[in-house]
Amino acid sequence: MDDNMKKKLKLKVSAINNGTVIDHIPATSLFKVITILGLDKITNQITFGTNLDSGKLGHKAIIKVSDKYFEDDEINKIALIAPHAKLNIIKDYEVVEKKVVEIPDKIKGIVKCFNPKCITNNEAITTCFKVISKEPIALKCRYCEKITNEEQISMR
Ligand code: CTP
Ligand code: ZN
Repeated sequence: MDDNMKKKLKLKVSAINNGTVIDHIPATSLFKVITILGLDKITNQITFGTNLDSGKLGHKAIIKVSDKYFEDDEINKIALIAPHAKLNIIKDYEVVEKKVVEIPDKIKGIVKCFNPKCITNNEAITTCFKVISKEPIALKCRYCEKITNEEQISMR
């Protein structure tokens, strides 16, 4: 059997014609990635697989969105929950570009403020943080100015 044949057999989710393949998502973050990217609200064809074997992640998920190319600031929203996600841009069945996600300078929503007294934990207000450090992560709340660090992070 030739290498190409082996590669095709390895494909657990069908190849797509045009669009974006988001690979190496931790299986536990799949549904969060779907909501953060608003994939539950678009009409494009979407296929996904989860709990697939992956060397470094244990179990990974993959999402394939046909006929959609994301803006960098759109896709970077998933950096906190899928830091090793790899984007593959597909055109005419070929991978024409690979990208990694990058933690943005500002984060709206997604994360909870660590301060229980913060207004965002007591009223219906979307959180907003300035990223003051990316490695390890430290987020400064726009409302209470308290810092939420990597160990304290939890998702909304
Ligand atoms: N893919 C797809 N449709 C295509 C081409 C590729 O769904 N027409 C998917 C593949 O299934 C794979 C990802 O896009 O999950 C990246 O493809 P490729 O670069 O060929 O695979 P690998 O070399 O295994 O990628 P990696 O960089 O993750 O090692
Ligand atoms: Zn706060």
